[in-house]
Amino acid sequence: MQVDKEIFLKSLGGAEAAARLDPEARADAIEDFLAAQLKTIGIAPGAGYPTVAEVENRIETKPFRAGAGFLFVSNSGNVKKLPPMPSNPTLADFFNLRFGANTTRNHCLQSAALAMKNGMTEEVILACLLHDTAAELIRTDHGWWGSQLYEPYVPQKVSFAIRYHQALRFYPDKETGYEYPELYRYLFGEDYVPAPHVEAAYKMLRRHKWYMEPRLVTLNDLYSFNPHAAVTIEPFLDIVGRHFKQPGEGLGNDNSPVAHMWRALASPDTPL
Ligand SMILES: [Fe+2]
Ligand SMILES: [Fe+2]
Repeated sequence: MQVDKEIFLKSLGGAEAAARLDPEARADAIEDFLAAQLKTIGIAPGAGYPTVAEVENRIETKPFRAGAGFLFVSNSGNVKKLPPMPSNPTLADFFNLRFGANTTRNHCLQSAALAMKNGMTEEVILACLLHDTAAELIRTDHGWWGSQLYEPYVPQKVSFAIRYHQALRFYPDKETGYEYPELYRYLFGEDYVPAPHVEAAYKMLRRHKWYMEPRLVTLNDLYSFNPHAAVTIEPFLDIVGRHFKQPGEGLGNDNSPVAHMWRALASPDTPL
């Protein structure tokens, strides 16, 4: 479950109050905070996991669909005006000006920081940094969308890892220590069976020489609060510089097959 550092600290009465907590009290506070977050997606703490049928019943309780990109809908209140983008926007500009702190930015930065701490290859660190950011555009099948969004600019192994981390999230792997995420039981229902294209991708991946690339993304896919985790893109700019082919004219202006996807992220208030 994703925890927004700023909101979490506020719930504790500020950073100083949080710093005074001993590790056990901090763990309790995180647990309480997560319970409150589950409540915001319609789940009462201690209510147990919903069934697939119950998840389906939530559809008509919201004015937007669960697959809508984070940048395009607000979970509470109206959306806000966005800061203007520079004329030649870079990946860092999208991180700083378009990817939401509470939606994909901090989650991806913290996952990349964990991958770096765990000594992953630069390709895996970059894949972790980018892995969920396409969910700003659209959440449904975010691995496939993300892979497409980044394909023209990153090594093939990186786009492969981004595409297939989505499928591997559903499949535990004892050998690597990857377990099925508890959050998924809440989001999809406890009796959920992955879609056929996800199942087919998993079967293909088990025999693929690059299986570990997306698997390592799932292992560093961090849904926890870490007060020391990086929350800016700065520590990753060298890796981005080495492996991300930033177009000189800017993302969205480069006539690539995915330029329109970057323009949609840059200008989500354009009506048509
Ligand atoms: Fe993901
Ligand atoms: Fe993730």
